[in-house]
Amino acid sequence: MTETFKVGFIGSGNIAQAIIGGAIKAGNLQPSQIKTSAPSDRNFSKIQEFKVATTNDNCEVAEFSQVLFLACKPYQIEGVANQIKSKISTEKHLVVSCAASLPMESCESYFPAGTRMIRIIPNMACSVGQGGVVLVQGSHATREDVETVKSIFTGVGECFEVPDRLIEPASGILGCGIAMMSVVLEGLSDGGVMMGISRQDAIQMAAQSLIGAGAIVKETGKHPGQVKDSCCSPNGTSIKGVHELERGGVRASLMNAVEATVKRAEELSPK
Ligand SMILES: NC(=O)c1ccc[n+]([C@@H]2O[C@H](COP(=O)([O-])OP(=O)(O)OC[C@H]3O[C@@H](n4cnc5c(N)ncnc54)[C@H](OP(=O)(O)O)[C@@H]3O)[C@@H](O)[C@H]2O)c1
Repeated sequence: MTETFKVGFIGSGNIAQAIIGGAIKAGNLQPSQIKTSAPSDRNFSKIQEFKVATTNDNCEVAEFSQVLFLACKPYQIEGVANQIKSKISTEKHLVVSCAASLPMESCESYFPAGTRMIRIIPNMACSVGQGGVVLVQGSHATREDVETVKSIFTGVGECFEVPDRLIEPASGILGCGIAMMSVVLEGLSDGGVMMGISRQDAIQMAAQSLIGAGAIVKETGKHPGQVKDSCCSPNGTSIKGVHELERGGVRASLMNAVEATVKRAEELSPK
């Protein structure tokens, strides 16, 4: 793939905007390389803020691009595929599905045989350069295709490659994890407010705690249990807090939460 490959987005909503904003800010893509489509103009003003071209014609985006992101809702993908598949060439196009709960096999079956496809589940933190992306290589995609997609996310979101059967639990941790960690963050800040800290300060402190715990684990390679142990002195304050979390069943709640996301993804998956 040349360095100036063209990138299309079918769908111009939240996830298209997060990827485009992140990739342009990181310098991975130039606005002139990108075009997006959607049936209505309602999201176009946000896309145009990035100086990116827009159209109501999905076929125009398919013809324009070599890397084609499917960034509409999962139930819309089959219809979109029927609309654009005559424009898709297995040599020219790499199709990147962002659709949650749509297995690779189903998505591949909507497109011409041999279509090179990659499935990704990016999270919303891509918009601030701290994202995470679960990535699955399709049956006809090459290693170069995987590297092309990863290059779009350099400095935007860390890519975690998994087999298709593990995409839902991985998305539970990484995609839904943003929502779940926001609840943890809010709860931690509620505790601070209860003990007299202003809401604004408590939220900033809680966010920094979450970032800090994650950064120690990522940078040192330490197990989270080791990090917890290193913060807990005998009969100290941290171990008292940890005890309350254990009494509240925080570990089981988080495990159940990931399991619930996987079950829901299975319910939403086309039969
Ligand atoms: N949001 C997330 O955190 C997240 C995370 C991972 C994966 N995803 C996946 O990303 C995809 C998009 O989600 P989103 O949150 O970005 O949704 P969204 O904000 O609702 O955006 C959906 C976009 O698709 C467009 N669209 C609808 N029908 C279309 C059609 N027939 N042809 C072309 N475009 C069409 C919509 O058009 P209008 O602008 O006219 O409404 C809109 O621009 C979904 O498959 C979702 O599973 C989302």
